[in-house]
Amino acid sequence: MVDVSRRDFIKGGLVASIALAAAAAGAPLVQYLTSERVVVGKVSGGEKSKLPMKIANKQDLQPDSQIQFTMPLNPDGSRGQHPSILIRLRPELAQKAGTEFKAFSAICTHLGCIVHLEPGDDIYCPCHAGYFDPVTGDVLAGPPKKPLPEIELKIDENGDIYAVGWK
Ligand code: FES
Repeated sequence: MVDVSRRDFIKGGLVASIALAAAAAGAPLVQYLTSERVVVGKVSGGEKSKLPMKIANKQDLQPDSQIQFTMPLNPDGSRGQHPSILIRLRPELAQKAGTEFKAFSAICTHLGCIVHLEPGDDIYCPCHAGYFDPVTGDVLAGPPKKPLPEIELKIDENGDIYAVGWK
C-alpha cells in the first residue's frame, strides 16, 4: 500500500492547482494567437500593408453583386483583418459613378454589424436597418452617423481588381 503523507498530499494538490491555473490563463492566449484576427509577421514598413492586394477578377462578379474579402489593415492604419466588401454596381449606378467597382469596409459605423449589398438596392445593415450608398458609402437612412470607409481600387489589364489602400 502506498502511504501518502498529508504533506505530500497537500504538495500534490498545490502543484495540480498551479498547473490548472496556468492552463486556464494560457487558454485565452492560445485562442488569441490561433484566431484569424492575428496578423503574423512584421508589421512595419512595406510588410505592414501587404497592399496592393488582389481581391478578384472582374469576371468573378455579376452586376449588382458583392464579394466579401479581408483588408490586412484597418481604416485607421492599424494592423488587423478588416471585413470588407467589393461591389459591382448595377448598370445605372455604374454609369452615375463612372466606375463599375467600389469597395468599402463591411463594418457598420453604428455598432459594428456586418453590412452587405442588397441586390437592386443599397448597402444594408440588418442590425438596426442602416442604409449606405453603394457609390459613396454615405449614410442614406437609419442610425449610423458616419459613412463606410472606402477602399481605393486598381484594375489591371487582365481585369484583376486590387485593393490599394483606404481612401
Ligand atoms: S449596427 Fe448597423 S445600423 Fe446599427
